[in-house]
Amino acid sequence: MTTAQGRTGRRAGPGRAPQTEIVVDGDSVQAVDGISLAAVLVGERRWSLRRNPVGGDLRGPFCGMGVCFECEVTVDGRPGVRACITKIYAGMRVETATEGEAPHDR
Ligand code: FES
Repeated sequence: MTTAQGRTGRRAGPGRAPQTEIVVDGDSVQAVDGISLAAVLVGERRWSLRRNPVGGDLRGPFCGMGVCFECEVTVDGRPGVRACITKIYAGMRVETATEGEAPHDR
């Protein structure tokens, strides 16, 4: 048994972790239950999450610990949610500042 295996001898890993479905900008996304929303979004190659209110530049996660506010998104209609300190849950509906834009523009 290696350190990556539990008592049952089965390997741990993302393939065996419980999955949750959330909706991001209208797209259904499957992710490991309970991980941070920022991790899910970056994993989906959604780096730009909000726009700078002054110049309109796209911004994305920077600090990853709730300090910079660059990862703010709208969750279930509530704006200003920091994705890096928010865990996902089933049915979560997320809107980024890039909704409606082509993936290459994000
Ligand atoms: S990445 Fe800095 S607050 Fe979320």
